[in-house]
Formats: sequence, C-alpha cells, structure tokens
Amino acid sequence: MAKIKKQFSCTNCGASSPKWVGKCTSCNEWNTYVEEILTKEDKKEDRRIWRENPQRQATPVLLQEVETGTTHRRATPDNELNRVLGGGIVSGSLVLIGGQPGIGKSTLMLQIALQTPFKVLYVSGEESEEQIKMRTERIGMHNAQCYVLTETNTQNIFKHFKKLQPEMMVIDSIQTLTSPHLDSTPGSVSQIRECAGELQRLAKETNVPVFIIGHITKDGSIAGPKLLEHIVDTVLQFEGDRHHTYRILRTIKNRFGSTSEMGIYEMQGSGLRQVSNPSELLLSQKEEELSGSAIAATIEGLRPMLIETQALVSTAVYGTPQRSATGFDLRRLSMLLAVLEKRCGFKFGMTDVFLNIAGGIKVDDPAIDLSIVSALISSLQDIAIPSDVCLAGEVGLSGEIRAVNRIDQRISEADRLGFKHIFISKYNVKGLDQNDFSIKIHPIGKIEELYEQLFV
Ligand code: TYD
Ligand code: MG
Repeated sequence: MAKIKKQFSCTNCGASSPKWVGKCTSCNEWNTYVEEILTKEDKKEDRRIWRENPQRQATPVLLQEVETGTTHRRATPDNELNRVLGGGIVSGSLVLIGGQPGIGKSTLMLQIALQTPFKVLYVSGEESEEQIKMRTERIGMHNAQCYVLTETNTQNIFKHFKKLQPEMMVIDSIQTLTSPHLDSTPGSVSQIRECAGELQRLAKETNVPVFIIGHITKDGSIAGPKLLEHIVDTVLQFEGDRHHTYRILRTIKNRFGSTSEMGIYEMQGSGLRQVSNPSELLLSQKEEELSGSAIAATIEGLRPMLIETQALVSTAVYGTPQRSATGFDLRRLSMLLAVLEKRCGFKFGMTDVFLNIAGGIKVDDPAIDLSIVSALISSLQDIAIPSDVCLAGEVGLSGEIRAVNRIDQRISEADRLGFKHIFISKYNVKGLDQNDFSIKIHPIGKIEELYEQLFV
C-alpha cells in the first residue's frame, strides 16, 4: 500500500512545511497554510513517461560550442500574440496565461488554436465538447486540425498526446488537472505544482509548445498562477475590466523576449478582435470640447498610443473629500494633487476628485502625468482644453516637468493622428527639429508655464 503523507502548503507562494504555521516563512503572508494529503508513488519511472533516453546524463559543454538555431519561433496569424511572445511561439516553451475568471482566456486560446495552421490539441477540463463547439461557431473560425479533449487526468492526456502528436497544446485550465501520482484535490498547491512540472517535462522533451490557462481570483485565495511563475518560460496576463470591451495581454515574464510588450484586443459578440491601431479607439469621439479632459501621448511596450484622461473635480459634500482613480495609481494622483496645491496654489483640499483613463485600460507610463494635471486644472476651473492638443511629460515634486523617453515617437504618433499642438518638457527638446513635424511643439519647464499657455 502506498504510504500516506501529509503536508502543509502556502496557497500564496507554494512553500511547504511539515507542520502548520500561521505566518509563511517564505512570503510572510498570514493564514495561508492549508493541509494537503500526498501519496508517495513508488513507481518513479512512470513519471518519466517522456524521457526518451532515461540514461541520458547531462555533461558540461563549452558555451561557445552550444549550437543555436534549434529553438525556432513560429509566427501565428495573431499579431498581438506574436508581439507579446517576442515574435512568435517558441518550440518547447511553456506559456502561462493568467487572468480573472470570465475575462476571455478560453476564448483567446481557442481562437489561437483555430487560427494557427498546425495540428493543435485543446484540452479542456472546464467545458464539454459541445460547449467548445458552440463557442467555435460563435467565433466563426475553422481549423481542420484542431482536436479537443475533455480530460483532467494528466497521464491520460499524455497518452492521447503521444498518439496524436500535435504541434501545439492548450490546457484549460491548470486548476482542473489532476495527476494520478498525488491524492490531493484538483486546484490544490501540490496538484498544481506537480501537473505543471509534468507539463514542463513534456514540453521540453517533445519540443512542443504548451499553453496553460490559470485563474487568479481578486483576493488570491486559491492557489494560483503565482507559484507557477517559476516553472514556466513565459507568463502572460490577460486583464481588463469585464464591463469594458478592451482586453490587454501583458507580458509579465518572458525567457525569450522583452517584458514590456502588450497586445490589445476588443471583445465582441463574435470573439476577440485584434486592435492594431489603439489610439483611434482610445480617444473617445466627442463633438464639443468639454472641461476635464486631456489627451496623453503615452508609450506602452514599443507602441506609442494616445489616450484620453478625464478628471472631475467637484465640491465635497461630506467632510472628507473623496479621491478615486480608474486605471491610474491613486497614490500618484494624491501626489499630483499635492504638487498642484503646494507649488501652484490650486485648491483641491475641499473637493472630490475622480479620475478616469478612457477604455478601461491601466497606464504605467509616467508621461501621462502632464495630461492628468491638465485635466485636473481644466475641470477645477471649468475651462476646456482644445481637442487638437496633447501632452507628454512627467511631473516632479517641485512642479517641474521632466523629460520622458522616446519623445520623437510620441510626437510622430500625435502628428499622424492630426493633433496640432503637443506640450513636452523643455529638457526633451534637445535633438528635436520642429521642421520634421507639422505639429507645433511647445516646450515647458513648470506647471505654471503650462497654465499660462493652455488656460489663460
Ligand atoms: P471566457 O473565454 O469563457 O473567459 P475565461 O475563460 O477567462 O473564464 O469568456 C467569457 C466572456 O466572454 C463571457 O462573459 C462572454 C464573453 N464572450 C463574448 O463577448 N463574445 C464571444 O464571442 C465569446 C466567445 C465570449
Ligand atoms: Mg475559461
């Protein structure tokens, strides 16, 4: 009989301990340890189902003699996915797609499975074949080489894999998989770790790319993709507001490319559509100029994007003024408000401030500061900013406008979209030639100068 073994695992980081502890020694989170029953499997060789040559022993080799070119990338018809993966799917790579339930992970992966021109095995532990077929019809794509398998046992999946010899595999989702080598329930820390390990061996030994879907919950209470991040080669995060139609695929980790990339999709009635020209969509179409709105020339990944920022400043009804921000860091908003109050004399102390980035996307680029400051002043004074103006600059603690990177790309994009004026930091103008652009460049050094040029 197999020996029954218990252990306690942290649901946050995956660390384990033979006895329960209140505070995880590895990630310092409280109350994250849960008990798990493990059954030690005696037949070790079973787990090495993918090892072609079990006697193979790694020997040290000279790095300069290692041959490259064996890992190659295959571009998919989905340019947004290619972009976040660093140019295409790398053979033998293990890619994790994380995201909250209902955001569209299954839709995205099914769509990619249907679009790619090679043999794909789509393993679903969440939906039946009919449900997947219905979704396929909704998306309206056909791939004669896309197989579906509704199975959750890893060893059975591997058997089918061996028979079918697909060129790509999708697992939906890691939380539903079970390994027969362990007794714990699907979705538990040890199952997730074991199944991911088996999938990694499979990917590395057969050189077939494997995509794993993983759910994360808002409070992170279920053992989630966090503990998988070390095992996989690439972590992609699918995010967005469920009530908005835009979805962003962001690279969190990538062993084969840059992590500053992002892909944008729009969720439609018939699946996800690639958004190749985001600026035109992220600028809300409006007829008249309204106060409280300003356009920022930002860069996400390698792509310049023009995004609308909106602010609403109103008198606080209750004692404590409210501050609320969607798509922007609330602490940074407080800092910008403090700078406006202390350095420029604008009174936000008794006002509610609401800030919104159009399209429900999240922006980390510091160049958006200048646009936010302008939107705040515009709303406070109820003076509209002309719709042909955009801004790019970081705001420092003393109210100075600081230079931002790749300013020429930002200006070109604004120029291309028909803007007439762009406000940038005066420290950014070195090397720029106004004659190269038809847009007028306004260099400024302080918020006061912005105020004089834009609002007076
Ligand atoms: P789904 O891919 O099931 O999400 P996940 O796998 O991340 O849990 O997508 C769920 C949502 O997407 C669902 O609320 C409906 C919506 N949707 C569309 O709007 N259009 C479509 O064509 C499809 C397939 C889904
Ligand atoms: Mg799903």
